Amino acid sequence: LAPQDLAGQHLLVTAGPTREELDPVRYLSNYSSGKMGYAIARAARMRGADVVLVSGPTFLTPPQGVTLIPVVSAEQMRKTVLDALPKATAVVKSAAVADYRPASLSTQKLKKSDEDMTLVLEKNPDILAEVGAGKEGRVLVGFAAETQDLLKHAADKLKRKNLDLIVANDVTQAGAGFDVDTNIVKLLHADGHVEALPQLSKDEVAHQLLDRVVELLKQREAK
Ligand code: PMT
Repeated sequence: LAPQDLAGQHLLVTAGPTREELDPVRYLSNYSSGKMGYAIARAARMRGADVVLVSGPTFLTPPQGVTLIPVVSAEQMRKTVLDALPKATAVVKSAAVADYRPASLSTQKLKKSDEDMTLVLEKNPDILAEVGAGKEGRVLVGFAAETQDLLKHAADKLKRKNLDLIVANDVTQAGAGFDVDTNIVKLLHADGHVEALPQLSKDEVAHQLLDRVVELLKQREAK
């Protein structure tokens, strides 16, 4: 049996991609499979937490004992996260949220013509930044998926989004990032301290991450 060191805690976890609809048959999205977020939700549940998992579309079976709330778009994920937030003592945002969506949604299938087509995209809300701005003593963990300058970009997101911890993965590395069963991550703490973890299964990364969340929750309670 796993240590019940998250008993009494309410974890809000996001996972998977978002899909931004273009017309009834097309959407913009990314390669997130949800494996990382589902591993976190499963591990947190095993350690005694009450877990709400807000997930974009995936092919995964939800972990037992976890409350799954499926969503499709970033806008739906935002609304669902903000609704579930008041109860959460810790939030882990591993979802790969689309930064942009098509500026207009066609109700009919877009027809091809002889011309090239230009897509106009508008910005999606940054859910994590919004949660960070209204943090209220919660432990807040983000992810950073980068293809270059991993530590620089991750440190910038940690600060900008008011996080306690950010999990940085270089998604160009074999065995890391999207749609594989392992990950290679660096954990950046708010005090500037960085830990580099070796290649681990996503389940093991989840437990390592939750060890840090348990410590952060203890520090909060000691205050
Ligand atoms: O799902 P898998 O196939 O297992 O892959 C795992 C993963 C690569 C998706 C995961 O490890 C990961 O890195 N998730 C975050 C991906 C991402 O969108 O990173 P980002 O650097 O674009 O965003 C930074 C943080 O802000 C993330 O916590 C993200 O959830 C959040 N964000 C981003 C944009 C937005 N509009 N709203 C957000 O909340």
